Amino acid sequence: MSFICPDNKCNKCNRLLQFRIENIKKFPNYYNAPVPSFGSLQAEILVVGLAPGLNGANQTGRPFTNDYAGDVLYPALKNSGFAKGNYRKVIDDGFELINVRVSNAVRCVPPQNKVTGDEVKACGEYLKQEIAAMTNLKTILVLGAVAHSAVLGILGYKKSEFKFVHGANHQLKKHNLVMIDSYHTSRYNINTGVLTFDMFEEIIHKVKKSLTEML
Ligand code: URA
Repeated sequence: MSFICPDNKCNKCNRLLQFRIENIKKFPNYYNAPVPSFGSLQAEILVVGLAPGLNGANQTGRPFTNDYAGDVLYPALKNSGFAKGNYRKVIDDGFELINVRVSNAVRCVPPQNKVTGDEVKACGEYLKQEIAAMTNLKTILVLGAVAHSAVLGILGYKKSEFKFVHGANHQLKKHNLVMIDSYHTSRYNINTGVLTFDMFEEIIHKVKKSLTEML
């Protein structure tokens, strides 16, 4: 499913392109390309992460797949009825999302897991097209402050009016959308206790509730 994803020739971000070329040499069996989103464009929920991990989504070619962050995200989605099948950290595990699509602010793996503002802006073009194509979209769950800012920037909202607060429910009135903030499901956040599995399950419950509140 490579719709609304740059192909391997995307060269908007030179730093990411150079890193991709290095990784193709180092890890010839990895996906090593912009990682397409996972889930249907008809979904009512869009989850926006940061960027693929080197040995995770960049290896498997599916967002959060084989990344620690996916070990938190995917079971929580499944526990709330937003997925079926067994998540087994490989692209052909048959795991399916229900009413959810998962994407990233930046679709290429960045060095040291850090993206630049210019990269978020450049890749935002793709996320913008994707949001526009999701005609049933009601709720965007952003994982971390970078995804939060990326979505606001794309949709043209003032960042100063929508502070990133874990658990916040922002009404994006011009678009008839809700944006829910969560700390990123990264290993670092889990190990340091910034985010727990239970806290993240609560976020997914909020996401579920937001669908019915808007009816
Ligand atoms: N972390 C993210 O934010 N996105 C991925 O696809 C993988 C890890």
